[in-house]
Amino acid sequence: MSDHLSTRRARIAEALPLEDALLLVGAGEPVPLPENSDQTYPFRSHAEYYYLAGQECAGGVMAYDPRDGAAEGWVSFVPAVTEGERVWEGREQVPGTPIALLDGWLAARRGRPVAALGGKLPVVSLYAPATERVRESLRHARRPKDDHELALIRRAAAATAAGYAKLRELVRPGLTERALQIELEAEFFRHGASRPGYGTIVGTGPNSAVLHFEPSARAARDGEFVLVDAGAEIDRYMADVTRTYVAGEPSAFQRDLHQVVLAAEERAITRCVPGAEWKNLHLAAAVEMVAGLVAMGVMQGVPETLVEREAHTLFFPHGLGHMVGLGVRDGSGMYPGRPKDPRASLKTLRMDLPLADGYVVTVEPGLYFIPALLNDPARRTRFRDCVNWPLVEQHLSLGGVRIEDNVLVTSGAPEVLTAAIPKHL
Ligand code: GLY
Ligand code: MN
Ligand code: MN
Repeated sequence: MSDHLSTRRARIAEALPLEDALLLVGAGEPVPLPENSDQTYPFRSHAEYYYLAGQECAGGVMAYDPRDGAAEGWVSFVPAVTEGERVWEGREQVPGTPIALLDGWLAARRGRPVAALGGKLPVVSLYAPATERVRESLRHARRPKDDHELALIRRAAAATAAGYAKLRELVRPGLTERALQIELEAEFFRHGASRPGYGTIVGTGPNSAVLHFEPSARAARDGEFVLVDAGAEIDRYMADVTRTYVAGEPSAFQRDLHQVVLAAEERAITRCVPGAEWKNLHLAAAVEMVAGLVAMGVMQGVPETLVEREAHTLFFPHGLGHMVGLGVRDGSGMYPGRPKDPRASLKTLRMDLPLADGYVVTVEPGLYFIPALLNDPARRTRFRDCVNWPLVEQHLSLGGVRIEDNVLVTSGAPEVLTAAIPKHL
């Protein structure tokens, strides 16, 4: 086993509140496709398993007994590869202890509580209180990225940058969302990607206001926004980047909107320092973008008051970002033990925690003209005095702007891991 894995396992063992409980972390099992073919959905081991095992292995189980010590107590149980898997998939035996020995390992520890994380483990009766507490602790303990993880994220960011470099040359009227996706992803693969980290988003014109739009055959028209949100993945680690372009010449309104988002993004990045509370960064970015919209004549009022009234959610309906690395949301969530913030405008935040050295987060403010929100009669009434509604009417099919980078929090200045990808229009 490589050194980084033994160091990682020992560190995690020390961080978990297991007391005398055993820990089992399952990789999970492949899920068959519904139409009775002999294929499955693409299999990916549960992130908690992958983090500790360092390998993909359907049916694998990492087991740990604290009585055996933080370094020595780990066993990686793996199923035997079958002949069918060798023949149909070319699979090889994954290294580890045969899973047939897991029953004996458990029998020798009968009566001890078990915390069961990762994919489902049908054979184990759970000791639920330990499981929930331990899961939260594992999530928190893997938030700071180790050197091995950072190296992979940097490689994913480099492949992502190559894709965006190609894309920038291509964006013009007449190109379809699908064509852009194809070129972008091909470039990811040419630069070492194992796959795109998540479903690539390409939205032209009004589609750029659909937060997770799946690319279609629609072609960009002259003067339309083209929003692209995509990232390459290498060995399960990924980048998550968004850029917004204009096909052809941007209008003054588009330039202003883009500039407001870009300025808020760059300010937010400078605030990614240890101890900074994520929701405060989110709210500060909201105030800055609302101030920009007021300057553009789209909103009216005092920016801080408009944000207190939650009027920003009309144009900025999502959170400022999330953790990224092993999965597109990685270890996002709450700081251990912290209750959910009851404010309605914060319910779309994917995390509520103070940043710390070694965290990798996305910073992704956006402003959109989303008809489903802006045509809603209840919102029009509630925010009657906050918005220049006739101006909004003119821009209902404009789409939106999002700009997203991946930032490493350090004890010094934040490092933008995706800085090689130009952001200007
Ligand atoms: N790629 C989806 C997101 O930005 O979170
Ligand atoms: Mn994204
Ligand atoms: Mn993101």
